[in-house]
Amino acid sequence: MDYSKLKIPTHVAIILDGNGRWAQEQGLTRSQGHKSGFENLKTLSRYIFNKGIKVLSVYAFSTENFKRSKEEVSFLMNLFASEFKNYSDLMNEQGIKVVFSGERKAPLPDKVIDIIEEVEEATKQNTRGILNICINYGGHSEIVNATKKICKLVLENKLSIDDITEENFSQYLFNDLPPVDLLIRTSGEIRISNFMIYQLSYAEMYFPKTYFPAFDAAEFDKAIVEYTKRDRRFGGINYENKNN
Ligand code: FPP
Repeated sequence: MDYSKLKIPTHVAIILDGNGRWAQEQGLTRSQGHKSGFENLKTLSRYIFNKGIKVLSVYAFSTENFKRSKEEVSFLMNLFASEFKNYSDLMNEQGIKVVFSGERKAPLPDKVIDIIEEVEEATKQNTRGILNICINYGGHSEIVNATKKICKLVLENKLSIDDITEENFSQYLFNDLPPVDLLIRTSGEIRISNFMIYQLSYAEMYFPKTYFPAFDAAEFDKAIVEYTKRDRRFGGINYENKNN
């Protein structure tokens, strides 16, 4: 689709939901659903960056997802360990920096933590865009972590309380990213589920019924068409559209 007349968000965040239900409908296993979701993400993220979006955040695995069956968790961890490198090579070729948000500690396996660090190092010079993969991530934990970092700096006399502002607070989050402009959650669930709660304050939300493995470029185009129609006021008044 031609995006020249559409509004292009700077930061898009996607909750990759519905892999399991997609697989069930196809008569496949949940693992096959995750694999297809991942294949879709590779194609879709390339498309998204080619359309001029600068930052893409994806919710790959929440802290709460560790409550799933041992088999499913271990399948996903193995998938991350074996595929992150290929995925980041693909992103690297496109000039995209890959960063990760979330707690880098158990129960996240060491082999996944090692790859995360390797991938960040290998792509850190890239400037065309940023792919932020949220793994062992929770929005509350991100804010609590930031608070701890700030308290430590204050106690060490490296930061004064008056210098903590809305403008610089995001420096203390897992990654310093611009606010999210458009949140997409696939599969028809209408919830945020502890995802980027600080960054989502003024995001437009879009909840398509499509399961993630089927959420392709044409589906993404629909999201951008919808986003273009939204009147973003950030609490103010858009005088062009004001009718009284
Ligand atoms: C939600 O579907 C999906 C997940 C918990 C995992 C998401 C992971 C991927 C798409 C693959 C890898 C991603 C990266 C970045 C490498 P669900 O299992 O909750 O589906 P359901 O709600 O239909 O059961």
